[in-house]
Amino acid sequence: MEDAIAVVDFGGQYTHLISRRIRSIGVKTHVIPHKMLPQTDISIYRGVVFSGGPASVYENNAPTVDMEKLRGKPVLGICYGHQLIAYLLGGEVRRERAREYGRTELFLKHGCRLFRGLPDRFMVWMSHGDHVEKIPQGFETAASTTTSPHAAICNEERNIYGVQFHPEVAHTEHGLKILQNFVFDICGCRGSWRMEDYLEKAVAEVVNLVGEGRVLCAVSGGIDSTVTAAIVSRAVGKRLKCLFVNHGLMRKNEPEKVLEILRKIVGEENIIYIDASKRFLDRLRGVADPEEKRRIIGHEFAAIFEEVSKAYGPFTHLAQGTLYPDVVESGKSVGGSAVIKTHHNVGGMPQDFGMKLVEPLRELYKDEVRQLAEMMGLPRWLVKRHPFPGPGLAVRIIGEVTEEKLEICREASAIVEEELEKAGLLEEVWQAFAVVGDDKATGVKGDRRSLGYIVTVRVVSSVDGMTADYVKLPYTVLDKIASRIANEVDKVSWVTYAVSSKPPATIEPQ
Ligand code: XMP
Repeated sequence: MEDAIAVVDFGGQYTHLISRRIRSIGVKTHVIPHKMLPQTDISIYRGVVFSGGPASVYENNAPTVDMEKLRGKPVLGICYGHQLIAYLLGGEVRRERAREYGRTELFLKHGCRLFRGLPDRFMVWMSHGDHVEKIPQGFETAASTTTSPHAAICNEERNIYGVQFHPEVAHTEHGLKILQNFVFDICGCRGSWRMEDYLEKAVAEVVNLVGEGRVLCAVSGGIDSTVTAAIVSRAVGKRLKCLFVNHGLMRKNEPEKVLEILRKIVGEENIIYIDASKRFLDRLRGVADPEEKRRIIGHEFAAIFEEVSKAYGPFTHLAQGTLYPDVVESGKSVGGSAVIKTHHNVGGMPQDFGMKLVEPLRELYKDEVRQLAEMMGLPRWLVKRHPFPGPGLAVRIIGEVTEEKLEICREASAIVEEELEKAGLLEEVWQAFAVVGDDKATGVKGDRRSLGYIVTVRVVSSVDGMTADYVKLPYTVLDKIASRIANEVDKVSWVTYAVSSKPPATIEPQ
């Protein structure tokens, strides 16, 4: 049996969070979409967690599981998972008139193993529309809240537990301790999931997979592709070639920084550097539509990729920095290999290059890739780097991409980053950059009035990029940014700050 836990996904928004939390305490996890449970060999796991989900157990086609298949395995149901356990084992679930949402106090009733070492009452995070009304035979109520009479249930003999609240979210007090009690005390996991072992295993797997073959890896300078290149390089040495395409839409000094790091990882002789700035800018001339810009960039990138793979090939393998959530989404999390995604950062590559995929990060979350990068001695700027869109500054320039607007966007963004760094805020925020369009406003420089560009500064906080808040920067920092941009960047007269959150806005302007 592996020292691992299966997290069965019923479509809940926190499924990957459950999985990440369990990994954070040293236990490997696999997320299994509930529909794939019948084909999954569950015997290799020490225990199973049922995630939450949007459905109601009584709905037609509500996701379900065969509890018989899990006989003998410890199970922890969370939210929908909790209701499903109660429902499938003979209890009753009731639709509530109002959803219970937010923090609420939990009162422990029964000293079950799940809550060992916890106080009698503490705050938990709830988000549900149904609750367990009657518990199944053989179960006891382990805890309640004022609105949920059976907020936690347990059958210690069968090692089955259910909680209505979310132990995985930070708002639940002692949430991590509850997960620890489950995976260590109840499931008997040892906690052997460590990045050092992962690295060794990943390198060995690449050696095995590639054999005597040759690998091509497109590196964007982002953390995923760079760490992928570093791992593959350890495995196959100079049989890896890294392709770095400069599309001319990068930030200030970025191509130089990416090249510097690539030299350290794979050596100058294994870098294929294509400065395609002119080619991309020529193709983008006169194009204002954002989707068309994206399409052109993707198409051009794919064409270059094809040219390079012919000129420097043949390559047997293509290395890609696919991460675990993408693997789960593509439905190939258990066995099999992932299909080539039309990955953002490589902008719509053709699906078939006749190369086999090498994806050494396919079992990792982003925060684990960061740990790996740190462990491998990659520089801090890379480890802490903000996400940067594949189409680069083209999505931060509204309207046509021109040399003039590119220069403004680059210089102004560099100032935003510098000032946030000085204020100790750069690593705190999710993204920080400048945007420029075609709108002009009047300025006075010296005694002369002149029309100049309007630059918009965008600084957002976010956990995963799905939702985001604009950052309430101190006025002193905003002041500094605004005056430096207006004074130091040529042809800019006004600076504005974007105060829209996502939703309804998006993070990037285009
Ligand atoms: P939006 O603008 O949709 O962005 O709120 C969410 C996150 O995704 C990044 N983003 C992209 N990344 N290629 C990428 O690789 C793209 O075309 C792209 N568009 C947006 C964005 O920077 C943010 O972190």
